[in-house]
Amino acid sequence: MESITEAQQSQLWKTAQQAYQNSYAPYSQFPVGAALLTQQGNIFAGCNVENISYGLTICAERNAIASAVAAEGGQQMKIQAVAIANKRQIPCSPCGACRQVIAEFADKNTIVIFLGQKGVEISTLAELLPQGFSF
Ligand code: THU
Repeated sequence: MESITEAQQSQLWKTAQQAYQNSYAPYSQFPVGAALLTQQGNIFAGCNVENISYGLTICAERNAIASAVAAEGGQQMKIQAVAIANKRQIPCSPCGACRQVIAEFADKNTIVIFLGQKGVEISTLAELLPQGFSF
């Protein structure tokens, strides 16, 4: 699973922590930041953006993915690793919807870094989304 260096891991983690500073989360008060490293070596950040019509909220991970696709192109962009952090420092992994969207641009080695029960956890998307939807 060690397909990224420790320096890259800590850079992603710091970028995710910076990203939640720009979050718009007046309803949940739960600012989230995501940072992803593409296979081309670029880093893109995203934060959650909530809406008064709650269901229109966009998660941090999906905003980071949208930025990466806009910059690199949807057919080219592949996720090497993604880190997700939240301002409240509450252990939580990416939601199911975001796992499926990450899967669209991932491979079996794609790494997901998040705050788990015992601190920062490094997992693969395959571990977090076994049998994700595909046809
Ligand atoms: N949220 C994310 O940004 N990513 C996730 O993976 C789960 C939840 C956001 C959505 C909402 O703005 C807030 O966290 C509380 O659910």
